[in-house]
Amino acid sequence: MGWRLTFQTMSLLMLMVMSALVKNQAQARQIFNIDDFGAVGDGKTDSSKALYNAWNRACHSKGTSVVLIPRRTYLLGPVLLVGPCNGAIELQIEGGLRAFHSPQLGIDHWITFRYIDRLTIAGGLLDGQGAASWPYNDCSKNPHCKALPVTMRFDFVTNAWIHDLTSLNSKNAHFNLFACREVTFERVTIKAPKDSPNTDGIHMALSSNIFIRDSSIATGDDCGSLGPGSTNINMTGITCGPGHGISIGSLGGSPNEQPVTQVFLGSSNFTGTLNAMRIKTRAPSYQGIVSDITFQDIIVQNANNPIIVDQHYCPYKKCSAQSSQVKISDVRFRNIRGTSSSLVAVNINCSPAVPCTGIELRDINLEYDGRGGKTSSACANAKGAAYGRQNPPSCLEK
Ligand SMILES: *[C@@H]1O[C@H](CO)[C@@H](O)[C@H](O)[C@H]1NC(C)=O
Ligand SMILES: *[C@@H]1O[C@H](CO)[C@@H](O)[C@H](O)[C@H]1NC(C)=O
Repeated sequence: MGWRLTFQTMSLLMLMVMSALVKNQAQARQIFNIDDFGAVGDGKTDSSKALYNAWNRACHSKGTSVVLIPRRTYLLGPVLLVGPCNGAIELQIEGGLRAFHSPQLGIDHWITFRYIDRLTIAGGLLDGQGAASWPYNDCSKNPHCKALPVTMRFDFVTNAWIHDLTSLNSKNAHFNLFACREVTFERVTIKAPKDSPNTDGIHMALSSNIFIRDSSIATGDDCGSLGPGSTNINMTGITCGPGHGISIGSLGGSPNEQPVTQVFLGSSNFTGTLNAMRIKTRAPSYQGIVSDITFQDIIVQNANNPIIVDQHYCPYKKCSAQSSQVKISDVRFRNIRGTSSSLVAVNINCSPAVPCTGIELRDINLEYDGRGGKTSSACANAKGAAYGRQNPPSCLEK
């Protein structure tokens, strides 16, 4: 009897608490519509100030606040959206944001989020209007080149969810993460032409617990690139191409770089890419570490370098005979199949100073997609083991 009463009382109490919670949540979601802050969704009136003001109001209010971009197109100059905020904050894009057509030389961002915890970006279109600025991207030839804006920068952002968002024609990279933690990209579409310079999809550095899922990336540069200090990175269900593939590095270009560890790329496809899975370090280089990297269940179609480890990257032609000091270990390639447009489908070219160790090749089947040739593999200073099917035959040393 006593037990029954207690149970009923408890259930009732729980119900009351739960409905109070639900009510509270519903009340706490405050909407800040940029139109109410003077934005004009005609695609040609600069609405930067309106977004900035809406953001600041939302950021200062308690509970969950939503900055709403209605179902129209808004022209937007560079904006810096800074926290910390008083609660969770969401940018809900029902329509689209359009960048200025002019190159905006020397400005490093279009939209930057900084010092924000619990950020959601939902839906919508970001049109970077990059075409007019691509000719100004001469950084490969000019060391004093001016920066072009990255479409979206996340600096010191934690617990973020970016989903169902499309980014088109960035002027520079599409997304850049610096010093972030617990960030998930889901159902994101990234698109720029094959020959657009430096339009990397998602670049990250000094960031951990980053998830990229079910996303499609087509660019003129790396679909994803992982700089120093990228740890616990999980990418699944990615389609990449055109583009330069998914790249770890380049590393070793500066002193005291943090390691790149615990990287997983699974169930993903590369189509018509320059590289597919790449690890790249400079020579000569500073010290560095790359370890615990897994590429698993990957289909490659017509990639120039499906699997490539290159520890001899020397972009500015000041190269000496010195080798890379970045140590690469425990890198696994598992169930990788498809086609290569070059004959050397597996190229593991490690540093003579610090050879690669613990490389695993398991169930590899990469055919040449040109005429009448068989793929081969090339190894230098690469130690590890091969299991299961090996096409091309493995060249790893024990
Ligand atoms: C990566 O995420 C997928 C699902 O999103 C999960 O199944 C898998 O176990 C994760 N891998 C690692 C190594 O954490
Ligand atoms: C990769 O390609 C295979 C075969 O075409 C397909 O079944 C799978 O859904 C694709 N995966 C992704 C993430 O696009």
